[in-house]
Amino acid sequence: MPEHVAPSGPIGPGLPDANAAGAADRPGRGVVSFVRRGSRMNASQQRAMDDLAPRYLIDVPRADMSTSVAPGAWIDLAERFGREAPLAVEIGSGTGDSLVAMAGARPEMNVLAFEVYAPAVASTMGRLDRAGVRNVRLIAADGAEGLRELVGTARLTELWTLFPDPWPKKRHRKRRLIAPAFAGLVADRLADGGLWRLATDWTDYAEQMAEVLGASGLFINQYADRPGGWAPRGTRPLTRFERRGLSTGRAIRDLVWTRAPR
Ligand SMILES: C[S@@+](CC[C@H](N)C(=O)[O-])C[C@H]1O[C@@H](n2cnc3c(N)ncnc32)[C@H](O)[C@@H]1O
Repeated sequence: MPEHVAPSGPIGPGLPDANAAGAADRPGRGVVSFVRRGSRMNASQQRAMDDLAPRYLIDVPRADMSTSVAPGAWIDLAERFGREAPLAVEIGSGTGDSLVAMAGARPEMNVLAFEVYAPAVASTMGRLDRAGVRNVRLIAADGAEGLRELVGTARLTELWTLFPDPWPKKRHRKRRLIAPAFAGLVADRLADGGLWRLATDWTDYAEQMAEVLGASGLFINQYADRPGGWAPRGTRPLTRFERRGLSTGRAIRDLVWTRAPR
């Protein structure tokens, strides 16, 4: 079935085109953790795309969906980063609120970020450029598929899933990214002792995260001795999502777990 493509403005190389909202619900498609939105960009996003994509954006072979990563796709990441270095991946980098600061604070790492929403990818490139952060590459695709196809077993030093879409309605919870099958994939890709950093402002999702990681038996909570087992925020910046959560009285929860030795 051809993918429905909504009208959109010009987009850049390596970017998914617009998709109708709710397309992920169509029968025959796997459940995904994101809502499909248009890809229309404002002028500064389009400028960032035109000027900065060659530096930051990596295109990937697609399967049937424009946000997909084709099974068997492979990319020489060291070549794309211009060096071998420990790899961190962020899934759902949004407009880069966490990414720019966290990658900037870790110049010794290669940071690969996945974000399905093209205008957010463009904004992130602009922010990375203004901050002078050069150790990041972005892929406009589903990060769960990207992790599966592009990162080898035990090749990952850190995974960041910070403020993933909360899917607060009960009937939508199956869309949450942090679920047993995904945790199994992460456990395979993380090196022994590799870190998984998670954060959310939805208490129920934080509890689900802790349950999923704990039940897998494949991760160790680095802050098990703290109240609730929650981690300190550490150097993670105070993001827009966090501020919004705090302003409505929600508690922010951080989790830092490591891959148990194999
Ligand atoms: C609430 S924002 C979080 C932004 C960022 N992590 C931060 O800390 O500011 C969640 C983002 O995840 C993206 N997203 C959700 N599921 C995704 C997936 N499987 N792959 C890539 N991006 C995804 C959404 O498009 C959205 O921009």
